[in-house]
Amino acid sequence: MRSKVVYVCQNCGAKESKWVGKCPQCGEWNSFVEEVENVSRGKRNAPVIGNTSSRPLKLSEVKVNADERMNTGDEELNRVLGGGLVPGSMILLGGEPGIGKSTLVLQFALRNHCGKVLYVSGEESVSQIKMRAQRLGLENDECFFLSGNSLENVLEHARVMQPRLLIIDSIQTLATEGVDAIPGSLSQIRECTNTLLRFSKENTVTTILIGHITKDGQLAGPKILEHMVDTVLHFEGDQQHMYRILRSMKNRFGSTSEIGIYEMLQAGLRQVTNPSELLLSNHGEDLSGIAVAATVEGVRPILLEVQALVSTAAYGTPQRSATGFDARRLNMLLAVLEKRVGFRLGSKDVFLNIAGGIRVNDPALDLGVVMAVLSSNIDVALPEGVVFAGEVGLSGEIRAVSRIEQRVSEAEKLGFNQIYIPLGNKKSYLKSPSRIKVQFVSQITEICRSLFG
Ligand code: TYD
Ligand code: MG
Repeated sequence: MRSKVVYVCQNCGAKESKWVGKCPQCGEWNSFVEEVENVSRGKRNAPVIGNTSSRPLKLSEVKVNADERMNTGDEELNRVLGGGLVPGSMILLGGEPGIGKSTLVLQFALRNHCGKVLYVSGEESVSQIKMRAQRLGLENDECFFLSGNSLENVLEHARVMQPRLLIIDSIQTLATEGVDAIPGSLSQIRECTNTLLRFSKENTVTTILIGHITKDGQLAGPKILEHMVDTVLHFEGDQQHMYRILRSMKNRFGSTSEIGIYEMLQAGLRQVTNPSELLLSNHGEDLSGIAVAATVEGVRPILLEVQALVSTAAYGTPQRSATGFDARRLNMLLAVLEKRVGFRLGSKDVFLNIAGGIRVNDPALDLGVVMAVLSSNIDVALPEGVVFAGEVGLSGEIRAVSRIEQRVSEAEKLGFNQIYIPLGNKKSYLKSPSRIKVQFVSQITEICRSLFG
């Protein structure tokens, strides 16, 4: 074995023999870090998945247990994973520090009934984990805990124990003797993940890696990590709000459009089965600038409260700011309002906020945003019990949106009495609900006339 010094881009993994300021591969600046590489001659450390002596097979010869999913005991997590954990798969769970990754994983590990679990923590001692478990009020003798950061040690125990589930908290704290670099560096992360991947496929152990996220929202270390694993989950939300959203960014065994919603309480995370109730504030009074939008995230309808504040610009250039909504999209909607409806918004400051700190990417939110802005602009509250769903086009037309029946029935379920939806959805909308009045609209001007006179 000989060692050599290489410079490795911490963003994409490109290697150079000398330090360079800008990565020639991914274009990232200042991403090169010196690492020592041990090169063992002949034997490459590539992951070997499955049996090395296997022969090519026809699909008809391959046996699969398609329905063999491990129930995590957590409905939200099950749904985001596409129906539970796939045995032998590797999952990467990313999120900012303090968001609740360790809590989420520990909670379901202690609750799960699928067999032995090995939880490895490189960040906390076993007594700290015990304290956390006590806080959660959970105990499970099928769960084993190991504190440390040596990969060799972890594998040694895992081989003896043969757990069904292996949890690594976090991959950035793990190190192998085979690589001469600090834990968390690209070559350590890559090597450890490779070895764990091989172990997990050979022994059909489901592995969950917890990964840190840098301040710009990237998984710390490498993009390559995301390529290696089967599923990438992000746990997000902000510290001020109690809501946490679990999103699937990549999933080889399910859809990526599902989200799971949790609430962080004193005794752990609570699954939120009806998010709309949580996200709507029951302010009671008639306040201007507030509209409720019926959105869909994944396949799940969520009613959101959109708050807008329009005021005269104090300085020359009007300010526009949006939280939880794309600022460029807001500018576009304001331009549409200016041009098509004749509202003079050019000299106004506009602030927009989606209540609850939640962020959805649903074009149907447009109509709610527009109505909140208009309501704040003329300082007239929207009638109570009204919900909006519709995409707004450049000429002020209201365009059809997906899953309209779900949106309507969610609004109906939560006791709203009127919903404005695009005329374009009329054809596909067959069953008429009993308790909620459905209004079809095709133009912004039309809906303004009917609501503000
Ligand atoms: P943690 O799971 O340690 O976050 P991560 O592993 O992502 O860094 O969560 C830490 C935060 O969660 C911490 O600020 C305290 C809070 N928390 C609760 O509010 N209730 C609880 O029951 C637990 C265990 C943590
Ligand atoms: Mg943690």
